[in-house]
Amino acid sequence: MDASTRSLLLLTILFNIHFSLAQDENQFIYNGFHGANLHLDGIAKIHPNGLLQLTNISKQQIGHAFYKIPISFNKSSSSSIPFPSFSTNFVFAMVPELPDISGHGIAFTISPSMSFEHAVATQYLGLFNITNNGRPTNHMLAIELDTVVNPEFEDIDDNHVGMDVNSLQSVQSASATYFSAEEGKNISLKLISGDPMQLWIDYDAAQKILNVTIAPVRRTKPNRPLLSTPIDLSQILLENMYIGFSASTGAIASEHYVLGWSFNKTGPAQSLEISKLPRLPPHKKSRQKPSNIIIISPIAATVVLVMVIGAVYTIRRKKYEELREDWETEYGPQRFSYKNLYIATKGFKETELLGAGGFGKVYRGTLPTSDVQVAVKRVSHDSKQGMKEFVAEIASMRRLRHRNLVQLLGYCRRKGELLLVYDYMPSGSLDKFLFSNEKPALSWFHRFQVLKGVASALLYLHEEWEQVVLHRDVKASNVLLDADFNGRLGDFGLARLYDHGTHLQTTHVVGTVGYLAPELTKTGKASTRTDVFAFGALMLEVACGKRPIVLQGLLEEVILVDLVMDCWKRGAILDASDPKLDGNYSAEEMELVLKLGLFCSQSMPAMRPSMRQVMQYLDGSASLPEIQTDKIVCTSTFTASNEASDLVIPFSSSSGKCSAHSFSSNESILHKGR
Ligand SMILES: *[C@@H]1O[C@H](CO)[C@@H](O)[C@H](O)[C@H]1NC(C)=O
Ligand SMILES: *[C@@H]1O[C@H](CO)[C@@H](O)[C@H](O)[C@H]1NC(C)=O
Ligand SMILES: *[C@@H]1O[C@H](CO)[C@@H](O)[C@H](O)[C@H]1NC(C)=O
Ligand SMILES: *[C@@H]1O[C@H](CO)[C@@H](O)[C@H](O)[C@H]1NC(C)=O
Ligand SMILES: *[C@@H]1O[C@H](CO)[C@@H](O)[C@H](O)[C@H]1NC(C)=O
Ligand SMILES: *[C@@H]1O[C@H](CO)[C@@H](O)[C@H](O)[C@H]1NC(C)=O
Repeated sequence: MDASTRSLLLLTILFNIHFSLAQDENQFIYNGFHGANLHLDGIAKIHPNGLLQLTNISKQQIGHAFYKIPISFNKSSSSSIPFPSFSTNFVFAMVPELPDISGHGIAFTISPSMSFEHAVATQYLGLFNITNNGRPTNHMLAIELDTVVNPEFEDIDDNHVGMDVNSLQSVQSASATYFSAEEGKNISLKLISGDPMQLWIDYDAAQKILNVTIAPVRRTKPNRPLLSTPIDLSQILLENMYIGFSASTGAIASEHYVLGWSFNKTGPAQSLEISKLPRLPPHKKSRQKPSNIIIISPIAATVVLVMVIGAVYTIRRKKYEELREDWETEYGPQRFSYKNLYIATKGFKETELLGAGGFGKVYRGTLPTSDVQVAVKRVSHDSKQGMKEFVAEIASMRRLRHRNLVQLLGYCRRKGELLLVYDYMPSGSLDKFLFSNEKPALSWFHRFQVLKGVASALLYLHEEWEQVVLHRDVKASNVLLDADFNGRLGDFGLARLYDHGTHLQTTHVVGTVGYLAPELTKTGKASTRTDVFAFGALMLEVACGKRPIVLQGLLEEVILVDLVMDCWKRGAILDASDPKLDGNYSAEEMELVLKLGLFCSQSMPAMRPSMRQVMQYLDGSASLPEIQTDKIVCTSTFTASNEASDLVIPFSSSSGKCSAHSFSSNESILHKGR
């Protein structure tokens, strides 16, 4: 044996002792990722015990972990070596921040590159962004474990496995289930149960079939795959490809873990050794039952104690009493216990009060079981009528996910009271930044960002979700700012409560004076165009730093729309800008926002742009049409009337089509009082 052979042998032995990793780049097995040949980025990390954590519960984050050596998929047709089959399996676990509500998922990925510089978190899973999603030039295959429904990608549910080719719109997907041969049926799995599960991906290059199979970690591989799709990967992948994992979080987050991974290009991937896999960190269980105290002591003392405990328990029971009905069982996981909300908000203490709005008071809180910060809104509501529908709506609103919406987490119900639990927004509401001196004035950069964010949230509600959702109360105090000063729209759909509730008979106009479109005060019917109207008022507020109706002196009111219109007519629209900005803004953007604000404030609904158009104007992908000021009819004098019916809006019915000219200039869109 010569020296070089000996050192090679030694090296091999050392390798085999230290790493359970085969040196052939086309195959490896990692029972835990100690010393694994992985490239990590984003918030991914490897724990000391070898556990790979792709994401923690930080919001809007990405984690990637890729095998550093590219795998060669020789696709040269002249090649004697055919396009290879491959086989891989891994064990993963998803631990949501709160029970039953998660974000967003893990994707096993075969990609031409390990760098995902422009990729976005949330529904893009850290793989794509809005522009490159769906492009054939991506050359990417991903098997997604997706825990959020994204209608724009036609997701089937919030618990599915999908096969993605260059796009997050899966070529095939199925709810997470596995076939149990013993029982002869499919058994459902809950991806976000926190329990480890195993996924197998097998590609047969001769048959051009890709199979995906899932099962709980301790089961052997089911003999029927969950997904089995004919697909020619040689047409999709490139010569040298990187394999690995991508995971992302959104407004709500889950911890995403991979415990072990095996890959093979020359045969079936070896099974992982389950007993050798690293353990998951212990998790606080969120659904704790009240503990039953058992005290062993002399009989007499016991009797006394039992009585005392009984009494205390009764008092506590009363204190934390909730209203619960049979129909609510299906919403179980979305229900928070009153006790936890009580503890979270320190008993709804005044010091925890964040604000009080039209619908009730809002408190800050920290959930005792998970340390998650939340905002709890207490809405007094006596009506039993319509509660069922409303709770059903809460359940569906909870599925809304957008980075510019304040996430609704769940609810609780007591006698005469409804509690809604939201994601906590540390920076507070936009009106505080615009109108009060308690917060620093917001820079134009942030203001413009906030408007774009709110516009994209409204567009999502109006056009991008599975059904049209009207906000019905867009205003500065309903726009909250997160830690990075992104605008997030809150309180959506709450107005519906009053539709279902006691105000059923009377057409009760919900909304806020100054943001109410004229047709809304007249007919009480909200539409996407009434939301656009309110967004117009918001844009003007943000640009001018003034409320829609500015009180001057005791009785005189200045209507913001008029003020901006006057400036425009004088050819000096920028004069309307917020003096607090001190001229520090982009004149182009300011002009855009002011004019667009007026366009949205037009009296005639049909003249207002849609949210999609508003978004296009704001992000510069379309430019505002040149319109003369006399063609725009917004509003003018303020009618101090309390009666919505007083506001008669003349329609030029002769043409059948609405035209801006058909308005006299003194109709009012404003409606004082409720
Ligand atoms: C998540 O991980 C990142 C990077 O390691 C860290 O900065 C952040 O604080 C973590 N977040 C939480 C909630 O632990
Ligand atoms: C791919 O096949 C071609 C033609 O047989 C060969 O020249 C080339 O070396 C192969 N590439 C790899 C990475 O195996
Ligand atoms: C999307 O990613 C591509 C790179 O893949 C980048 O060129 C593009 O600018 C990104 N688009 C957005 C909107 O971030
Ligand atoms: C894929 O699944 C089908 C259907 O069960 C099976 O016939 C085939 O052998 C599987 N192929 C691979 C590569 O696992
Ligand atoms: C089980 O699930 C597979 C894959 O989704 C489906 O094709 C099959 O019909 C299901 N079988 C039963 C017995 O439900
Ligand atoms: C890859 O497949 C070959 C052939 O079946 C087998 O000998 C080898 O152990 C496998 N390696 C891994 C890491 O799965």
